[in-house]
Amino acid sequence: MTHSIQPKIDKGQNVNTLPAVSTLLGNQKVVPVVVIENEEQAHGLAQALIDGGVTVIEITLRNAFATEAIRLIKQHYPTMVVLAGTVNSAAQYAEVVEAGVDGVISPGITQGLLEAAMQHGVPYLPGVATPSEVLLGIEYGLTECKLFPATVVGGMSALKAFNGPFSNVKFCPTGGVSESNYQEFLALPNVVCVGGSWLAPSKLVADGKWGEITELCKAVTS
Ligand code: 3PG
Repeated sequence: MTHSIQPKIDKGQNVNTLPAVSTLLGNQKVVPVVVIENEEQAHGLAQALIDGGVTVIEITLRNAFATEAIRLIKQHYPTMVVLAGTVNSAAQYAEVVEAGVDGVISPGITQGLLEAAMQHGVPYLPGVATPSEVLLGIEYGLTECKLFPATVVGGMSALKAFNGPFSNVKFCPTGGVSESNYQEFLALPNVVCVGGSWLAPSKLVADGKWGEITELCKAVTS
């Protein structure tokens, strides 16, 4: 009697057909990573980003309002590419897809999240910090990963090292990326975009300093 071990899922078939998150971004290279606490902040922040030429936002699932913020910005700001960040489970993946998100980002990479990406057909950018995690993404057909937390896990040196064995994989470093180093990251051949909280710091959002956020955005878009 022969035994064949069937993979639980058809690896690489579906994720591979999903557009990579970076293809949603057009000419946007900097993804603002934000926390939104309420409706007023959602409107103020979305408009501040747009006024500064930034048409992408990563809304992190770090409070109870996050999913509503995704729904609201998708509804009222149709030019904005809305990404969900800090998506840490398949259940959260389903929740943000239901809210209408354009793409999903997680701090790490798991089979459960990869399976959710295939199930929902919504672009997925998983976080990686090691070669083994990059390999897991490759097994599922991914060609883009987020390096996280970028400056803690080797930053530009890690990205240069990854470009040897993983020359077909592109990265979006996030975590420790700032106005003083983002251009250096973007100059690397395997970096397609960067993420960071410096465009919309929580303090400016809490204080409703929308003009200051717009100016921070203009510095990266003009
Ligand atoms: C986060 O975890 O909040 C993001 O990676 C942003 O990190 P940063 O605040 O270092 O930009």
